[in-house]
Amino acid sequence: MIEVRELSKNYNEVPVLNGIDLDINDSETLVILGPSGQGKTVFIKSLVRLIEPDSGTIRYDGIDVLTLPKRKFIAVQKKIAFVFQDNALFDFLNVKENLSLYLRMHSKLSEKEIIKEVLRAIEFVRLNEEVLDKYPEELSGGMMKRVAIARAMIQKPCYMFYDEPTTGLDEANVEMVVELIRKFKKRVCATAVIVTHDIHLMHAVSDRVVLLKEGKIVFVGKKEEISEESLHRLYDTGVRDDL
Ligand SMILES: Nc1ncnc2c1ncn2[C@@H]1O[C@H](COP(=O)(O)OP(=O)(O)OP(=O)(O)O)[C@@H](O)[C@H]1O
Ligand SMILES: [Mg+2]
Repeated sequence: MIEVRELSKNYNEVPVLNGIDLDINDSETLVILGPSGQGKTVFIKSLVRLIEPDSGTIRYDGIDVLTLPKRKFIAVQKKIAFVFQDNALFDFLNVKENLSLYLRMHSKLSEKEIIKEVLRAIEFVRLNEEVLDKYPEELSGGMMKRVAIARAMIQKPCYMFYDEPTTGLDEANVEMVVELIRKFKKRVCATAVIVTHDIHLMHAVSDRVVLLKEGKIVFVGKKEEISEESLHRLYDTGVRDDL
Protein backbone atom coordinates (compact mmCIF):
# COMPACT_ATOMS: atom_id res chain seq x y z
CA MET A 1 0.00 0.00 0.00
CA ILE A 2 1.16 3.51 -0.76
CA GLU A 3 -0.01 6.28 1.58
CA VAL A 4 0.44 9.87 0.47
CA ARG A 5 -0.14 12.70 2.92
CA GLU A 6 -0.11 16.45 2.37
CA LEU A 7 2.22 16.18 -0.59
CA SER A 8 3.20 19.58 -1.95
CA LYS A 9 5.55 20.88 -4.60
CA ASN A 10 6.06 24.41 -5.86
CA TYR A 11 7.92 25.57 -8.94
CA ASN A 12 8.93 29.23 -8.92
CA GLU A 13 6.66 29.75 -5.93
CA VAL A 14 3.66 28.45 -7.87
CA PRO A 15 2.00 25.41 -6.26
CA VAL A 16 1.96 22.45 -8.64
CA LEU A 17 1.03 19.83 -6.05
CA ASN A 18 -1.19 21.33 -3.41
CA GLY A 19 -1.46 19.09 -0.34
CA ILE A 20 -2.34 15.73 -1.89
CA ASP A 21 -3.75 13.00 0.38
CA LEU A 22 -4.24 9.61 -1.27
CA ASP A 23 -4.11 5.90 -0.44
CA ILE A 24 -3.15 3.53 -3.24
CA ASN A 25 -4.31 0.04 -2.35
CA ASP A 26 -2.58 -3.21 -3.17
CA SER A 27 -3.90 -4.90 -6.30
CA GLU A 28 -5.78 -1.89 -7.62
CA THR A 29 -5.36 -0.02 -10.88
CA LEU A 30 -5.64 3.62 -9.98
CA VAL A 31 -6.06 6.07 -12.84
CA ILE A 32 -5.20 9.71 -12.23
CA LEU A 33 -7.02 11.74 -14.81
CA GLY A 34 -6.60 15.39 -15.66
CA PRO A 35 -5.91 17.73 -18.55
CA SER A 36 -2.50 19.09 -19.44
CA GLY A 37 -0.51 20.98 -16.84
CA GLN A 38 -2.43 19.86 -13.75
CA GLY A 39 0.54 18.22 -12.02
CA LYS A 40 0.03 14.58 -13.07
CA THR A 41 3.63 13.95 -14.10
CA VAL A 42 5.04 15.87 -11.13
CA PHE A 43 2.83 13.75 -8.87
CA ILE A 44 3.67 10.33 -10.34
CA LYS A 45 7.40 11.16 -10.47
CA SER A 46 7.24 12.35 -6.86
CA LEU A 47 5.76 8.98 -5.88
CA VAL A 48 8.92 7.24 -7.11
CA ARG A 49 11.34 9.96 -5.97
CA LEU A 50 12.30 11.08 -9.47
CA ILE A 51 11.13 14.48 -8.22
CA GLU A 52 11.67 15.53 -4.60
CA PRO A 53 8.51 17.16 -3.24
CA ASP A 54 8.81 20.16 -0.91
CA SER A 55 6.75 18.65 1.90
CA GLY A 56 4.51 15.77 2.84
CA THR A 57 5.01 12.04 3.32
CA ILE A 58 4.90 8.98 1.08
CA ARG A 59 4.81 5.56 2.76
CA TYR A 60 5.28 2.25 0.95
CA ASP A 61 3.95 -0.50 3.23
CA GLY A 62 4.56 1.81 6.17
CA ILE A 63 8.06 2.90 5.15
CA ASP A 64 8.40 6.67 4.88
CA VAL A 65 10.43 6.86 1.69
CA LEU A 66 11.07 10.61 1.55
CA THR A 67 13.18 10.52 4.71
CA LEU A 68 15.06 7.37 3.68
CA PRO A 69 18.64 7.93 2.58
CA LYS A 70 18.90 7.25 -1.19
CA ARG A 71 20.88 4.05 -0.67
CA LYS A 72 18.15 2.61 1.57
CA PHE A 73 15.51 3.68 -0.92
CA ILE A 74 17.06 1.25 -3.44
CA ALA A 75 15.27 -1.69 -1.76
CA VAL A 76 11.91 0.02 -2.38
CA GLN A 77 13.00 1.20 -5.83
CA LYS A 78 13.58 -2.39 -6.91
CA LYS A 79 9.85 -3.02 -6.43
CA ILE A 80 8.95 -0.13 -8.72
CA ALA A 81 8.78 0.00 -12.51
CA PHE A 82 7.99 3.15 -14.44
CA VAL A 83 6.86 3.45 -18.05
CA PHE A 84 7.69 6.99 -19.14
CA GLN A 85 5.60 9.00 -21.58
CA ASP A 86 8.56 9.14 -23.97
CA ASN A 87 9.55 5.54 -23.04
CA ALA A 88 13.08 6.63 -22.01
CA LEU A 89 14.84 3.83 -23.86
CA PHE A 90 18.59 4.29 -24.26
CA ASP A 91 19.11 5.47 -27.87
CA PHE A 92 22.65 4.10 -28.03
CA LEU A 93 21.62 0.58 -26.99
CA ASN A 94 19.67 -1.87 -29.10
CA VAL A 95 16.48 -3.47 -27.81
CA LYS A 96 18.27 -6.52 -26.45
CA GLU A 97 20.72 -4.34 -24.54
CA ASN A 98 17.96 -2.05 -23.30
CA LEU A 99 16.08 -5.06 -21.96
CA SER A 100 19.14 -6.78 -20.47
CA LEU A 101 20.51 -3.75 -18.65
CA TYR A 102 18.48 -4.08 -15.45
CA LEU A 103 19.40 -7.73 -14.96
CA ARG A 104 23.05 -7.08 -15.74
CA MET A 105 23.12 -4.38 -13.08
CA HIS A 106 20.90 -5.90 -10.41
CA SER A 107 21.10 -9.67 -10.73
CA LYS A 108 23.66 -12.42 -10.82
CA LEU A 109 21.97 -14.22 -13.71
CA SER A 110 24.14 -15.77 -16.39
CA GLU A 111 24.10 -14.43 -19.95
CA LYS A 112 21.96 -17.41 -20.99
CA GLU A 113 19.43 -16.77 -18.23
CA ILE A 114 19.30 -13.06 -19.08
CA ILE A 115 18.54 -13.83 -22.72
CA LYS A 116 15.79 -16.20 -21.59
CA GLU A 117 14.18 -13.41 -19.54
CA VAL A 118 14.52 -10.98 -22.46
CA LEU A 119 12.84 -13.44 -24.84
CA ARG A 120 10.06 -14.07 -22.34
CA ALA A 121 9.48 -10.31 -22.04
CA ILE A 122 9.31 -9.64 -25.78
CA GLU A 123 6.96 -12.56 -26.21
CA PHE A 124 4.80 -11.10 -23.43
CA VAL A 125 4.43 -7.83 -25.36
CA ARG A 126 4.00 -9.76 -28.64
CA LEU A 127 7.13 -8.61 -30.40
CA ASN A 128 9.22 -11.04 -32.37
CA GLU A 129 12.93 -11.72 -32.00
CA GLU A 130 13.90 -9.58 -35.00
CA VAL A 131 13.31 -6.51 -32.86
CA LEU A 132 16.19 -7.38 -30.53
CA ASP A 133 18.90 -6.02 -32.83
CA LYS A 134 17.08 -2.81 -33.61
CA TYR A 135 17.80 0.59 -32.06
CA PRO A 136 14.98 2.71 -30.58
CA GLU A 137 15.03 5.16 -33.52
CA GLU A 138 14.16 2.26 -35.85
CA LEU A 139 10.98 1.43 -33.91
CA SER A 140 7.45 2.78 -34.32
CA GLY A 141 5.78 4.51 -31.35
CA GLY A 142 3.73 1.40 -30.59
CA MET A 143 6.79 -0.87 -30.69
CA MET A 144 8.72 1.47 -28.42
CA LYS A 145 5.90 1.41 -25.90
CA ARG A 146 5.92 -2.39 -25.99
CA VAL A 147 9.67 -2.45 -25.38
CA ALA A 148 9.21 -0.04 -22.47
CA ILE A 149 6.57 -2.35 -20.97
CA ALA A 150 8.80 -5.39 -21.60
CA ARG A 151 11.64 -3.64 -19.78
CA ALA A 152 9.33 -3.01 -16.83
CA MET A 153 8.27 -6.67 -16.85
CA ILE A 154 11.87 -7.83 -16.54
CA GLN A 155 12.08 -6.00 -13.21
CA LYS A 156 9.18 -8.07 -11.81
CA PRO A 157 7.85 -5.04 -9.96
CA CYS A 158 5.28 -4.88 -7.14
CA TYR A 159 4.21 -1.40 -8.22
CA MET A 160 3.80 -0.35 -11.82
CA PHE A 161 3.62 3.30 -12.86
CA TYR A 162 2.60 4.52 -16.31
CA ASP A 163 2.81 8.16 -17.42
CA GLU A 164 0.44 8.83 -20.33
CA PRO A 165 0.86 5.35 -21.85
CA THR A 166 -1.45 6.02 -24.81
CA THR A 167 -0.40 9.54 -25.79
CA GLY A 168 0.65 9.84 -29.43
CA LEU A 169 -0.51 6.34 -30.37
CA ASP A 170 -3.11 5.46 -33.00
CA GLU A 171 -6.30 3.60 -32.12
CA ALA A 172 -4.90 0.10 -32.75
CA ASN A 173 -1.87 0.79 -30.57
CA VAL A 174 -4.05 2.32 -27.84
CA GLU A 175 -6.00 -0.97 -27.74
CA MET A 176 -2.72 -2.91 -27.64
CA VAL A 177 -1.59 -0.84 -24.63
CA VAL A 178 -4.95 -1.39 -22.91
CA GLU A 179 -4.56 -5.14 -23.42
CA LEU A 180 -0.96 -5.10 -22.13
CA ILE A 181 -1.91 -3.10 -19.03
CA ARG A 182 -4.59 -5.71 -18.25
CA LYS A 183 -2.25 -8.63 -18.93
CA PHE A 184 0.51 -7.05 -16.85
CA LYS A 185 -1.91 -6.72 -13.95
CA LYS A 186 -2.94 -10.38 -14.19
CA ARG A 187 0.45 -11.96 -14.74
CA VAL A 188 3.13 -9.64 -13.38
CA CYS A 189 2.09 -6.88 -11.01
CA ALA A 190 -1.39 -6.26 -9.66
CA THR A 191 -0.90 -2.71 -8.40
CA ALA A 192 -0.74 0.02 -11.05
CA VAL A 193 -0.88 3.80 -11.07
CA ILE A 194 -1.63 5.36 -14.42
CA VAL A 195 -1.71 9.07 -15.16
CA THR A 196 -3.51 10.08 -18.30
CA HIS A 197 -5.84 12.52 -19.96
CA ASP A 198 -7.32 9.64 -21.98
CA ILE A 199 -10.89 9.03 -20.80
CA HIS A 200 -11.14 5.88 -22.91
CA LEU A 201 -8.11 4.39 -21.14
CA MET A 202 -9.56 5.36 -17.76
CA HIS A 203 -12.81 3.52 -18.59
CA ALA A 204 -10.94 0.50 -19.93
CA VAL A 205 -8.57 -0.23 -17.05
CA SER A 206 -9.38 1.65 -13.83
CA ASP A 207 -10.55 0.14 -10.56
CA ARG A 208 -10.54 3.60 -9.02
CA VAL A 209 -10.14 7.08 -10.43
CA VAL A 210 -8.62 10.30 -9.12
CA LEU A 211 -9.44 13.57 -10.83
CA LEU A 212 -6.57 16.03 -10.49
CA LYS A 213 -7.08 19.74 -11.03
CA GLU A 214 -4.49 22.41 -10.34
CA GLY A 215 -2.49 20.05 -8.16
CA LYS A 216 -5.47 19.11 -5.99
CA ILE A 217 -7.61 15.99 -5.90
CA VAL A 218 -11.16 16.98 -6.75
CA PHE A 219 -12.62 13.46 -6.87
CA VAL A 220 -11.67 9.93 -5.77
CA GLY A 221 -13.94 7.00 -6.48
CA LYS A 222 -15.13 4.43 -8.99
CA LYS A 223 -15.49 5.45 -12.61
CA GLU A 224 -19.24 4.82 -12.39
CA GLU A 225 -19.47 7.53 -9.73
CA ILE A 226 -17.91 10.27 -11.89
CA SER A 227 -20.57 12.61 -13.13
CA GLU A 228 -20.47 13.99 -16.66
CA GLU A 229 -20.57 17.41 -15.02
CA SER A 230 -17.38 16.86 -13.02
CA LEU A 231 -15.58 15.65 -16.17
CA HIS A 232 -16.75 18.71 -18.08
CA ARG A 233 -15.67 20.97 -15.23
CA LEU A 234 -12.27 19.32 -15.14
CA TYR A 235 -11.67 19.63 -18.86
CA ASP A 236 -13.29 23.04 -19.36
CA THR A 237 -10.99 24.55 -16.78
CA GLY A 238 -8.02 22.79 -18.33
CA VAL A 239 -8.83 24.15 -21.76
CA ARG A 240 -9.31 27.68 -20.45
CA ASP A 241 -6.03 27.54 -18.55
CA ASP A 242 -4.30 26.46 -21.72
CA LEU A 243 -5.55 29.47 -23.70
N1 LIG B 1 10.96 21.34 -13.67
C1 LIG B 1 9.98 22.23 -13.69
N2 LIG B 1 10.23 23.55 -13.54
C2 LIG B 1 9.23 24.46 -13.55
N3 LIG B 1 7.94 24.15 -13.69
C3 LIG B 1 7.61 22.87 -13.84
C4 LIG B 1 8.61 21.83 -13.85
N4 LIG B 1 8.00 20.63 -14.02
C5 LIG B 1 6.68 20.90 -14.12
N5 LIG B 1 6.45 22.23 -14.02
C6 LIG B 1 5.13 22.88 -14.08
O1 LIG B 1 4.24 22.17 -13.27
C7 LIG B 1 2.94 22.13 -13.87
C8 LIG B 1 2.45 20.71 -13.92
O2 LIG B 1 3.29 19.97 -14.80
P1 LIG B 1 3.07 18.43 -15.12
O3 LIG B 1 4.12 18.04 -16.08
O4 LIG B 1 2.97 17.65 -13.87
O5 LIG B 1 1.64 18.45 -15.83
P2 LIG B 1 0.82 17.23 -16.42
O6 LIG B 1 -0.50 17.20 -15.71
O7 LIG B 1 1.63 16.01 -16.40
O8 LIG B 1 0.56 17.71 -17.93
P3 LIG B 1 0.62 16.89 -19.33
O9 LIG B 1 -0.74 16.25 -19.48
O10 LIG B 1 0.84 17.96 -20.34
O11 LIG B 1 1.73 15.89 -19.27
C9 LIG B 1 3.07 22.79 -15.23
O12 LIG B 1 2.57 24.10 -15.14
C10 LIG B 1 4.55 22.78 -15.48
O13 LIG B 1 4.93 23.89 -16.26
MG1 LIG C 1 2.54 14.84 -17.89
